[in-house]
Amino acid sequence: MRFLGRSGELTAVRRSIGTLSPQERPSAGKVINDAVAGFEAQLETKAAQLRSDALEAQLHTAIDVTFPAPPARIGSLHPLRRAMEDACGYFERRGFAVVLGNEMETEYYNFDALNIPPDHPARESLDSFYFANGMLLRTHTSPMQIRTMKVHASPIAIVVPGKAYRRDAFDARHSPMFGQLEGLMVAPGIHMGHLKAMLTGMCREVFGPNQAVRFRPSFFPFTEPSAEVDTTCPGCGGSGTRANGEHCKTCGGSGWIEIGGSGMVHPDVLREAGYDPELVSGWAFGCGIERIAMVRHELDDIRVLFENDPKMLAQLA
Ligand code: DAH
Repeated sequence: MRFLGRSGELTAVRRSIGTLSPQERPSAGKVINDAVAGFEAQLETKAAQLRSDALEAQLHTAIDVTFPAPPARIGSLHPLRRAMEDACGYFERRGFAVVLGNEMETEYYNFDALNIPPDHPARESLDSFYFANGMLLRTHTSPMQIRTMKVHASPIAIVVPGKAYRRDAFDARHSPMFGQLEGLMVAPGIHMGHLKAMLTGMCREVFGPNQAVRFRPSFFPFTEPSAEVDTTCPGCGGSGTRANGEHCKTCGGSGWIEIGGSGMVHPDVLREAGYDPELVSGWAFGCGIERIAMVRHELDDIRVLFENDPKMLAQLA
């Protein structure tokens, strides 16, 4: 308006051309027309710019309901939950019943019935969490062997997933609370070969199809004979050396990792539970769930599994 309108400054200049001499008029007219044209072109550019800015802003705030939504973040099961479900699921699909027990137990079920003598170090209050009434937080899932056998006749095939507690420090390798999977099978003619086959199957399910299992002689008061259960180290495939030539840290170079204890149920335990050891025999095992998860995810600190840092868990998913 100020320059190009009817009474604008450029319009006034244009009118004043009439006052010039005839020789001067053409060149003056051209200068003015060029100026006006340039001015108008710039105005048009600016107007176009403003229009597209406005459109852009509108597009940014508008919701396009036809636009595909970003994928939802659905999370995943905790690595401990997965380790437990995989190990437990193997037995479940083979007809084993899953039984859960109480985490608060009596000394009878946690120790005595399992042949653990009164002077055994695990019974010290320094090692277990006792309640004022003499009960304690179970130190293993084994008490459910007795509880199940006392109410069910042979044959028995059960697994017991659950938590157990010990007065351990909370450091890279220990936790006062931990997960165990207990297994028990009792029937006429059961022997250690059955145990080895089942544990091998479980390890193949949990770690991979090429897993082997070996027994190492050991001692537990509630089994005879007793054995530690080792399986092929999944980190190095049992060679003790990583694919990149490095010493395998997961198994310390031995090629094996320990996952739990096992054995043939002690005749005294069968008798205490009301079974006749002349007629039936049974195997039992107890596996550490954190151990399985740590080996699977190559963790060297158990606390990672309890701290639940979402950034860490996302990497373990
Ligand atoms: N209860 C043992 C523990 O917590 C593990 C165990 C060993 C369980 C041998 C068993 C077994 O059933 O037969 O250390």
